[in-house]
Amino acid sequence: MLKIGVFGAWRGNNYIDLFKEDEEIEIVAICDKNLEKLKEHKDEFASAFLCADFDEFLSEGIKRGMNSVFLANYFNEHAPYAIKAMNAGLDVVSECTSASTLKECVELVECVEKTGRKYFIAENYPFSTQNLKMGKLVSSGMLGSLLYAEGEYNHSGDNELLRYYTPGEFHWRAWMPRTYYVTHALGPIMYMTKSMPKYVSARAAHSDLLYELRDWRHNYDGTGIMFCEMDNGMIARFTGCTAMASDYSRYRICGDRASVEWGGYIEEGKVRRFFFEHTKPEGEEQISLLDADLSDFGEDGIKAKNAGHGGGDYWIVKEIKDCFIHGKDIFFDVYAGAAMSATAILGWRSCLNHGENFKIPDFRNKEERDKVRSDDLTPFPDQNGNGITLPCALPFDGE
Ligand SMILES: NC(=O)c1ccc[n+]([C@@H]2O[C@H](COP(=O)([O-])OP(=O)(O)OC[C@H]3O[C@@H](n4cnc5c(N)ncnc54)[C@H](O)[C@@H]3O)[C@@H](O)[C@H]2O)c1
Repeated sequence: MLKIGVFGAWRGNNYIDLFKEDEEIEIVAICDKNLEKLKEHKDEFASAFLCADFDEFLSEGIKRGMNSVFLANYFNEHAPYAIKAMNAGLDVVSECTSASTLKECVELVECVEKTGRKYFIAENYPFSTQNLKMGKLVSSGMLGSLLYAEGEYNHSGDNELLRYYTPGEFHWRAWMPRTYYVTHALGPIMYMTKSMPKYVSARAAHSDLLYELRDWRHNYDGTGIMFCEMDNGMIARFTGCTAMASDYSRYRICGDRASVEWGGYIEEGKVRRFFFEHTKPEGEEQISLLDADLSDFGEDGIKAKNAGHGGGDYWIVKEIKDCFIHGKDIFFDVYAGAAMSATAILGWRSCLNHGENFKIPDFRNKEERDKVRSDDLTPFPDQNGNGITLPCALPFDGE
């Protein structure tokens, strides 16, 4: 039985709704400093401990049998809380970045190795129905040698929406450089091709539209594009979270025999597959629009469809249970999480240095960890506005 505590009840609420429907999960405690958010759940969770302070959440939760925590607190503050929870004997799910500095990446990895606790990064975009379909096609081997992959995640909004999502002067969404929210674009590429990033170079581009909001949103670049050599020899090009004027996100994997992709002009719910005439298997079309349907993914696909969470959250809950209760290995472990965070962090340094190429540490290797263990450069302020050691946007002279 998973006896879970949820830290952060905003995005955390989506998972609370899934957890409470699951017979193998009990919500033991919920913590959010904004008590209004917690009160929305008070009646539904008569038995859960509700509080505003993390230490109280941890100690009271443990007394009540809590064995794992789901971190949905501020994007840039996951690692210290993950470490506290693992040191207290709990397994951790982090939604959805692992660390905001290289130093934190090292600390997190070493805490998992020291405590033996399970750690899972809840990156859900690899589990969207089209990405699952693409992953199935890639793993069949029909693409041949994998050469190139693309991941593009677009998410912006009008001023009212941006204000709603950026509560407070020092909130992470006002200071996050464009490369940092990388998991939704890079995660699916890694998962579909079972590869890890090795080197990154990147570029960002300034946005006049976002510059108009600079008094309260300081990260006014419109996009950050990263370019990686992956450990399977493939090249990948992907975004962080971008504000490019585009109405879609998209993913593409190209081999030397075939390619698969979705998004853009491709009909919703379909994956486009292309073969050369000379690589096309007998009986197949050169170009096909394949249905991406959850019914193709067995019993769990049907459950996911019925649960109405084709967007991926259902699969995350399944992965958490598979790993924490049933002891199965997961792809998005602490090493994958640290690699994604390091790509985002070093990708930003590359943007600030005109595309300089950076080696992404292999966090399994102690010597490589040693090189970055005191690297704590950050674009994020603490709650009093102090501690920034990196700019969060490209230099811009206002012209
Ligand atoms: N995978 C997805 O599709 C997806 C979608 C939205 C958000 N997220 C992730 O979820 C995380 C949270 O984002 P969000 O959208 O909920 O916005 P948010 O970061 O503004 O909300 C965090 C919540 O945690 C609470 N909190 C933070 N620090 C706390 C502390 N020290 N003590 C008590 N409560 C604390 C806040 O009051 C707030 O309710 C981020 O890492 C974000 O990247 C993922």
